[in-house]
Amino acid sequence: MLTTLVTCLSELQDAACAAIAAATALKELEALDAQYLGRKGALAQCMGAMKGLSAADKPALGKVANDAKAVVTAALETRRATLLDAADAQSLAQDALDVTLPGRARVQGGAHPLAQTLREMLDIFQRLGFAIEEGPEIEDEWHNFDALNIPASHPARDVQDTFFINAAPAADPRAGRFILRTHTSPVQARVMQQTTPPLRFVAPGRVYRNERIDASHYTIFHQVEGLYVDRAVSFAQLKGTLLDFAHAYYGPQVKLRFRPGYFPFTEPSAEVDITCSVCSGRGCSVCKQTGWVEILGAGMVHPNVFRAVGYDPDAVTGFAFGMGVERIAMLKYGIDDIRLFYENDLRFLTQFA
Ligand code: DAH
Repeated sequence: MLTTLVTCLSELQDAACAAIAAATALKELEALDAQYLGRKGALAQCMGAMKGLSAADKPALGKVANDAKAVVTAALETRRATLLDAADAQSLAQDALDVTLPGRARVQGGAHPLAQTLREMLDIFQRLGFAIEEGPEIEDEWHNFDALNIPASHPARDVQDTFFINAAPAADPRAGRFILRTHTSPVQARVMQQTTPPLRFVAPGRVYRNERIDASHYTIFHQVEGLYVDRAVSFAQLKGTLLDFAHAYYGPQVKLRFRPGYFPFTEPSAEVDITCSVCSGRGCSVCKQTGWVEILGAGMVHPNVFRAVGYDPDAVTGFAFGMGVERIAMLKYGIDDIRLFYENDLRFLTQFA
């Protein structure tokens, strides 16, 4: 009886160890654990047969059974550790982080080319001693036209050029209707009304015209207005200031040319050209083969403008100028279509970032 049981235990141990070694999953191991070592498992059943043994044989079988249990338990543990290691290694391999993968570059923003141009222009004028002033984009007819010696009959006041605001007129009947300012020149009148001379400032800002849109015209654009008023401001000072600006902005090789012009708010008035910065004056499509391009209007402040704002035209003189920011930028960078500034196409914008 004892021998049979010992053989049974040894076979059981061998079978268990073989099955454990062959197991490929932790679940399988748990099942084998229950099958051999569980309360109703093979080992327990074998021990159940101990009841029939003599008191003398019992301890001998007990030892064999305990040894078999220890061997199977150890085999289970070893195999469990091996399978756990393998599972760890697999999940590590699966979740591996490839540190050689390049990161995602952050897209860096930049100032709009018009903002950059304006900043550069204002920097130059500030170095020349000009303050910076601003006025409203919704303006009244008096500041935009009347104060600047532009009479009610002037064609510029036509609805074809001016956007009128659909609102009740200003409380002051002299102010007329509200409009979107068609130039930055009304800032001249506003600042002079609030200040006593001398004064020297530039006024940057957006202006609006009811224009047919094409490569060189847009309904919105920007201007920089300049005004210098003192006791004896001269046309020579105007020329010097504009030449300094052109050299600082376009470079020392640029030449300036003053042509007689007409603006109601200046007398005398001039239209000012620079040597074409695209072809260096040799002649190209931008300058229509002339080598010159117009960049601004300027002149000596008209006595009627001084009168309108309450200055004595016999006591002070002044010069004024106005230039288009888009045009200045187009000439500097060789941009051939004003609409590019307003389409926000990143292929255009990133060239200036
Ligand atoms: N306001 C003019 C325009 O929009 C530009 C201009 C010309 C401004 C002569 C001036 C100036 O101050 O003196 O066309």
